[in-house]
Amino acid sequence: MSNPLRSPLDQRLPRIAGPCGMVLFGVTGDLARKKVMPAIYDLANRGFLPPGFSLVGFARRDWADEDFAQIVHDSVREHARTPFREETWQQLCEGIRFVAGDLGDPAAYDELSRVVAELDEQRGTGGNHAFYLSIPPGLFPVVLEHLKTSGLAANTPDAWRRVVIEKPFGHDLKSAQELNALVGTVFDTGSVFRIDHYLGKETVQNILAVRFANEMFEPLWNSNYVDNVQITMAEDIGIGGRAGYYDGIGAARDVIQNHLLQLLALTAMEEPLTFAAAEVRAEKEKVLSAVRLPKDLAAHTARGQYAAGWQGGTPVVGYLQEEGIDPSSHTETFAAMRVDIDNRRWAGVPFYLRTGKRLGRRVTEVAVVFKRAPHLPFLAEAVQELGNNALVFRIQPDEGITVRFGSKVPDTSSIEVRDVTMDFQYGEAFTESSPEAYERLILDVLIGDPPLFPRHVEVELGWTILDPVLDYWAEQGQPDQYASGGWGPQVQYEMLARDGRAWRRP
Ligand code: BG6
Repeated sequence: MSNPLRSPLDQRLPRIAGPCGMVLFGVTGDLARKKVMPAIYDLANRGFLPPGFSLVGFARRDWADEDFAQIVHDSVREHARTPFREETWQQLCEGIRFVAGDLGDPAAYDELSRVVAELDEQRGTGGNHAFYLSIPPGLFPVVLEHLKTSGLAANTPDAWRRVVIEKPFGHDLKSAQELNALVGTVFDTGSVFRIDHYLGKETVQNILAVRFANEMFEPLWNSNYVDNVQITMAEDIGIGGRAGYYDGIGAARDVIQNHLLQLLALTAMEEPLTFAAAEVRAEKEKVLSAVRLPKDLAAHTARGQYAAGWQGGTPVVGYLQEEGIDPSSHTETFAAMRVDIDNRRWAGVPFYLRTGKRLGRRVTEVAVVFKRAPHLPFLAEAVQELGNNALVFRIQPDEGITVRFGSKVPDTSSIEVRDVTMDFQYGEAFTESSPEAYERLILDVLIGDPPLFPRHVEVELGWTILDPVLDYWAEQGQPDQYASGGWGPQVQYEMLARDGRAWRRP
């Protein structure tokens, strides 16, 4: 029987998947090649996959099994985290199959059923298969429909079938509800795994560990002491080859709706009774339901679009000049907004969220900014360089935590105080390196462990929060331009200045 206290935080490895396989839709996409395939190899290399694990690729390509195996091999060679071992590769390779066919062709699903059944015989996968939909959202309905009619989606008492759905889960509340209803006609709730890869990051799970394992932070974690919370996810990359996905979606749908709202939920939620999936999700849903948008969206949201500029010493083109982008596109590549949380703990504490592409550098952090001390018994000039205390979860790439506080400047006759920082670095404190988020999440799917996957309620709450902002922006025309390689549009600074605050420099 499973232990109700099992959680993302208290499970002890090793947790090894039982007999199973995965069917991957969208094998030629960036995500499959850069994240999913390497993560599968890394799991195999770390001994977390069963020896008979099978990976079936499905696509409209004229490939044989060997051609697909070559694609997986190249992606592993280029992107895997752990060293390449011929022995691991050979074992994995023996379970690789390819089914060529159109996503809408029933015959292709018949062939897929045959291959899956054959693998159960040859490799002992036991009828347990996860279907990973790494495909554009417009194609979800057709694939789901065929998984249903072909019988591939059917659980039996002895064998499981699960579906892994990549975001975006809809493009607004209505479409998310429709998609959810559709998924519900094919897979039962416990078999649906919605990926938000931020939840697979160790540093994101660490927010819960730091908050709830320690005594010294939680008493301060409320509106008595916290002035504001700033959640920043900055990327230096542009849209790369993802024009088809990104245009019309934009920064808020791509990142705020899921990753940043999840970070907000983990930072702001109440302590769950246990770390079992239902308890953690219930607390996240409670806090997300309490999120309130500002009345004046013009004053409290900001957006931008990257213009040409310099990145790492190289000139780069603006968003509108990117290949495949409509030159009159209004899609934002930078988005920022203020939200409030209507509950006792957070009343009056703004949460500022922002994300953007082609910014100065890649950094994701959650900064909890504290109020100033109520009284400072120092000369005014002695505290000029004292800012607000802050606790910063450095999610990536420099993983750790920074605490900022004031300290005496040495060798001054009167006490002069300046900000200093205390750093915890994952790399120094622990010898184990963090696995990639996808390793953790794929293993959880294969084991059937759901705490790190958002329920549809969370997804819908995300859209409920975002929809009014998106509707408002849709009427505003072209977003402000900002130079690539900088820190985004000026409007974001004005947004905080109106509240008498400023963004922390990441
Ligand atoms: C994805 C977004 O979810 O997250 C991408 O679709 C973004 O646009 C990516 O680049 C960033 O992920 P990470 O893990 O590098 O922060």
